[in-house]
Amino acid sequence: MGKLFYGTMTGNTTSVAEAIQAALPELIEEIKCIDKAKAEEIQACDFLIFGGSTWGDGELTDDWADFLPQFDRIDLKGKKVALFALGDQVGYTYNFVSAMKEIYDKVKERGGQVVANCVSTEGFDFSHSASVVAGKFVGLVIDEVNEPDLTSDRISVWAELVRQEVLSAV
Ligand SMILES: Cc1cc2nc3c(=O)[nH]c(=O)nc-3n(C[C@H](O)[C@H](O)[C@H](O)COP(=O)(O)O)c2cc1C
Repeated sequence: MGKLFYGTMTGNTTSVAEAIQAALPELIEEIKCIDKAKAEEIQACDFLIFGGSTWGDGELTDDWADFLPQFDRIDLKGKKVALFALGDQVGYTYNFVSAMKEIYDKVKERGGQVVANCVSTEGFDFSHSASVVAGKFVGLVIDEVNEPDLTSDRISVWAELVRQEVLSAV
């Protein structure tokens, strides 16, 4: 079993985190805001999901920015990690969901294996995102501002990918 940790400014990510847990009940036993997390708790998980929205101009939410230095005390070697991001592809087309890349880089730096990390950009219309690596998003991308009607399907498709990649190795 694993846990999901998320950051948010106005609560959109909270609802998406709940929907992800509902889609992956066998993998996620608890969801928690990252500002309530302890490094030891993250260290104790075999599987993790990290997510959050992008603010400012391509920046992390305050809760994630405050927590990120604590990763220097966490060893993610041998752990599978999946990522998700919320953003606004119309209003912030030059930095769509860019903050996810900062979390991605930190997870890799700490030795984690990012799974379900080749998410198609098809269906999105944006100019730039730091979270696109080799032509794919490094995690699930949700746009609650412009496409809330697509959220449920996007979560289902990605959750199936996560399930396959996490359970295949067990
Ligand atoms: C001031 C402000 C700055 C934002 N900056 C970005 C951005 O740089 N990139 C992006 O994709 N979305 C940006 N957004 C959109 C938010 O990420 C989006 O509204 C998201 O759903 C908020 O989720 P939350 O309520 O969990 O924080 C911004 C929104 C606001 C209000």
